[in-house]
Amino acid sequence: MRFPVLVVAVLLLLQACFTAAESFALGSLSERVAVPNSPSEVLESQGLTTFLKAVNQTGLGPLFEGINDNFTIFAPTNEAFQDLNNVSTIFANSGTLETLILYQVVPGALTTSDIVSQFEKSGVGTLNSANNLEILVFVRPNGTILLGTDEASIVTANLSAGNSVVQVIDRVLVPPVTNFLLGPTVIPSAPSAPTAADTGVSTTSISSSLPQTTFA
Ligand SMILES: *[C@@H]1O[C@H](CO)[C@@H](O)[C@H](O)[C@H]1NC(C)=O
Ligand SMILES: *[C@@H]1O[C@H](CO)[C@@H](O)[C@H](O)[C@H]1NC(C)=O
Ligand SMILES: *[C@@H]1O[C@H](CO)[C@@H](O)[C@H](O)[C@H]1NC(C)=O
Ligand SMILES: *[C@@H]1O[C@H](CO)[C@@H](O)[C@H](O)[C@H]1NC(C)=O
Ligand SMILES: *[C@@H]1O[C@H](CO)[C@@H](O)[C@H](O)[C@H]1NC(C)=O
Repeated sequence: MRFPVLVVAVLLLLQACFTAAESFALGSLSERVAVPNSPSEVLESQGLTTFLKAVNQTGLGPLFEGINDNFTIFAPTNEAFQDLNNVSTIFANSGTLETLILYQVVPGALTTSDIVSQFEKSGVGTLNSANNLEILVFVRPNGTILLGTDEASIVTANLSAGNSVVQVIDRVLVPPVTNFLLGPTVIPSAPSAPTAADTGVSTTSISSSLPQTTFA
């Protein structure tokens, strides 16, 4: 009777191995299926509470909650806001604040290497913000990126947020707008934004949600 006992033991051992392999496979599968984070979740996880507070104070919150749009969000640290000139005046005027926030956002998801390859030859150039203002970009010969006239540095790079990328920066980008502190002038009869058909951009993208503003 020793032979069948051995067979049963081997079979039990094999079964245990398969069960272990199966649960191992299931475990690693669930680890691989990560839920994408929205930009606002990423900002929260980075402790960027002042920027989030600014976003919440305007009507722009929904733009930071989608995972399908693709933007680059240059998200200033809390310290960067402390260093910002006239910060209380800016927060007191929602139009000014909205102009400021949209200026930290660039349509299209850019990693640092995308920015470097776009500007390394010339060393300097501009990106267009979500409110269609130019952001000065410098790429030093060693690959260091500096943004805006105050030369903000990227302190935490390439945080993926849905289809967007968050680049944490150490200075707030100040919009190049005359009388910026007075806020944008809303022109009631502004020409309508390009439609999805014109641009090929999905109707849920940031461009369709942007306010029709111009600057004094
Ligand atoms: C911003 O609003 C969201 C909800 O829309 C909330 O979860 C979050 O705590 C708010 N953050 C700040 C800093 O006010
Ligand atoms: C990102 O958006 C642009 C339009 O702004 C679109 O052409 C491109 O296909 C999008 N890329 C991804 C990965 O969604
Ligand atoms: C903005 O800040 C500058 C420098 O701190 C100050 O001279 C100016 O009065 C401030 N302007 C407003 C409108 O608060
Ligand atoms: C950002 O991501 C790009 C592309 O994945 C990579 O080449 C680059 O080294 C990253 N930058 C940093 C600072 O991690
Ligand atoms: C890159 O070069 C700049 C000067 O162009 C310098 O200030 C900076 O410290 C350098 N950064 C690194 C990481 O070498």
